[in-house]
Amino acid sequence: MSGILGVEQGLGIAAGVLLLVLWLLLPPGAGRRLVRQPLLFLVLYAAGVAALHLLPAGSLGAQAARVASTLFLLASVGRSSVLLLLDVIVGRRTRHPPPRIVRDLTQGLVWIVILLATLRSIGMEPGSILTTSALLTAAVALSLQETLGNLVAGLSIQVQRPFDVDDWIQFDGEKTHIGRVIEINWRATKVITLDDVEVIVPNATLAKAPIVNFTKPTRASRRNLYLSVPADVPPHVVHAAILEGLVGATGVLREPAPSVVTNAFADGNVEYWVRFFTDAFHRRDLVDGASRDRIWYALRRIGVTPASAPNRAVHMQEVSAAARARDEQAALERERALRNVDFLAALPEASQRELARAGGTRLYVEGETIVKQGERSAELFVVESGEVVVQSDGVEVARLGPGKFFGEMALMTGEPRSATVVARGTCRLLVIDAASMRVVLESAPELAEAVSRVIVERQAGLGEAEAEGAESRRRAAAGPASTEERRSQLLGRIRRFFSL
Ligand code: CMP
Repeated sequence: MSGILGVEQGLGIAAGVLLLVLWLLLPPGAGRRLVRQPLLFLVLYAAGVAALHLLPAGSLGAQAARVASTLFLLASVGRSSVLLLLDVIVGRRTRHPPPRIVRDLTQGLVWIVILLATLRSIGMEPGSILTTSALLTAAVALSLQETLGNLVAGLSIQVQRPFDVDDWIQFDGEKTHIGRVIEINWRATKVITLDDVEVIVPNATLAKAPIVNFTKPTRASRRNLYLSVPADVPPHVVHAAILEGLVGATGVLREPAPSVVTNAFADGNVEYWVRFFTDAFHRRDLVDGASRDRIWYALRRIGVTPASAPNRAVHMQEVSAAARARDEQAALERERALRNVDFLAALPEASQRELARAGGTRLYVEGETIVKQGERSAELFVVESGEVVVQSDGVEVARLGPGKFFGEMALMTGEPRSATVVARGTCRLLVIDAASMRVVLESAPELAEAVSRVIVERQAGLGEAEAEGAESRRRAAAGPASTEERRSQLLGRIRRFFSL
């Protein structure tokens, strides 16, 4: 008896020391909270020992207290040892906590050993209990069959690693059965689906199912969109518009670069297959939607409406009287908008009308770059609706709303764009290109003088209003001092550009 007590006391001291070591070595917070369970077992052990002393020796209660205290003491030592092994020793070496399945299995084995040791300590032989009852053996074997199947499948997942925690997988043929793995334990794998629902899939089921892993070999996964465009639009024009529209679109990776394939011809349409990569798999629907928006706007700018149905009917309508009336109305609106552009006010009414008719309307969606600082393009834009942001060297210098214009510098001089202009929300812009402007200026070269005067006046006004703006500072530093000098320099540039 004293020998047993000696072992027990030794174990008790070991349990206390283990707890202290764990407390010191585990990281504060969640790590240290793990110590609570073995501490509770130790407290219950102490309570059992106290009860043992209070109850009459040899009574049923004393026997029960004895068994319970032994069980709790072993449980405390066992749990602490597992924590020390997995969270302190292995965890520190690998810098990652061991997988859940390893933790569960180790702990499960330790519980079995503790249970067997406790049964032995009260004189029961667990093996003989099982072998004496054939019925019990059969029942245990049957109930373990499925559990063992899950366990083996869980182990094979750990060894083969078809997926890891945090991977996005499709766990059977069902399209909606897609989710992020949050835990792989000895029995099942937990997945959070796109609907934010937790699904627990038994490992044995996963072992049999075809698994699609969207996170391997890299986090970038390809998205595919299909759209149809009338067959009379040249494919290279459609390809260029789509790729331009996808630049900087939400969630679309720059590398690997998006690509477009001319996929099929059907019913007067050409089907295009757009492929791009995203690393935001969890937001793939939003990414797809934002990309479709971008493509729609990009195609509209080249006068095309994407469709999934045959487009012939639409073609027929486009030449109808109603369509002509719509075009007429749009030209009138453009004319009205052009009248608000101060430097074009110098043009006679007929020239303004000519420009409005030759111009077009373009739609841009949130975040799209309309002109890029340093690029060579020569179009003037008037904001019909929405808002744009002017950025110089990445710094916002102005916001322009309905009635405001931009791009006059490059249009009139052919010089690189002095700033980047980006759409804020959806914008409708009137566009005048250099060719139309050339026609007007060639018919009345003296207009260049009036136009240059208005532009310089506008710039001077801008410089005062936005003395802090980087662009204004740049112009102020680089440009000549007097307005008259600036005007004559600008006039020279305009004349050179339009060969007047
Ligand atoms: P452009 O250089 O053709 O292209 C960029 C356009 O941004 C430029 O013409 C101007 O119309 C406009 N822009 C540049 N700087 C400013 C500013 N400080 N305030 C308002 N518009 C500007």
